[in-house]
Amino acid sequence: MRILFIGDIFGHPGRQLVKETLPLLREEFQPELVLANAENAAAGFGITPPLVEELLDMGIAVLTSGNHIWDKKEIYSYLRDHLDGRLLRPANYPETAPGHGLYVGKTQSDVGYAVINLQGRVFMPSIDCPFRKADALLESIPSDVKIRFVDLHAEATSEKQALSWYLDGRVTAVIGTHTHIPTADERVLPQGTAYQTDVGMTGPYDSIIGMERQSVIQKFLDQLPARFEVAKGEPRLSAVLIEADPATGQAISIRRIQRP
Ligand SMILES: [Fe+2]
Repeated sequence: MRILFIGDIFGHPGRQLVKETLPLLREEFQPELVLANAENAAAGFGITPPLVEELLDMGIAVLTSGNHIWDKKEIYSYLRDHLDGRLLRPANYPETAPGHGLYVGKTQSDVGYAVINLQGRVFMPSIDCPFRKADALLESIPSDVKIRFVDLHAEATSEKQALSWYLDGRVTAVIGTHTHIPTADERVLPQGTAYQTDVGMTGPYDSIIGMERQSVIQKFLDQLPARFEVAKGEPRLSAVLIEADPATGQAISIRRIQRP
């Protein structure tokens, strides 16, 4: 089966691009499962309940997130009220945080799958250990659910690589998000886990990780608080397509996708 994972959907340009491009990707690759990271869907900061619904209505089965999930206050009650919901926050935030970081579901052709959202701790908030959290979550998933996808939202390449090797053979894929820049290291590890350090964002690439360049440069120059606006130039969709064996959950191949 094929899994399409769309990288960090950034602001209106990102949402618009998914709306236009996802039908074409469906036609071309026929994915059974479409997943996306949407932590920056609302003008580059967080996501709101209407945007969650908008993206799910496009046929995305599960939305993952990361450190920016907490940016919009209205998402707290949404996460609290939708405990079986298809919007995930990183699972290794303390138990008291609203929401959850694991979704177990079935595709239209009745294949069981699990999506795990984890967040790194290097150069990021010092939340619970993503390695041990992964162990605990994998333990909790029914053994007949073989397709197990991990979105690892993290800054440091070393931490992402370490977790992918730690989970090799235990999950179908570990795909990195958060840096917004796609890396050229996609591969299937020896025990059958597909890996890419970062899938890259779906948003304006003529930017600094999605934002208008000038205000970001200014902030580096004067170190004062600055207001960032979503950039407009060169919208591009970044994704990965993973082919996996539903009987074993092992990945067969992974390829990077960019559109246009
Ligand atoms: Fe992030």
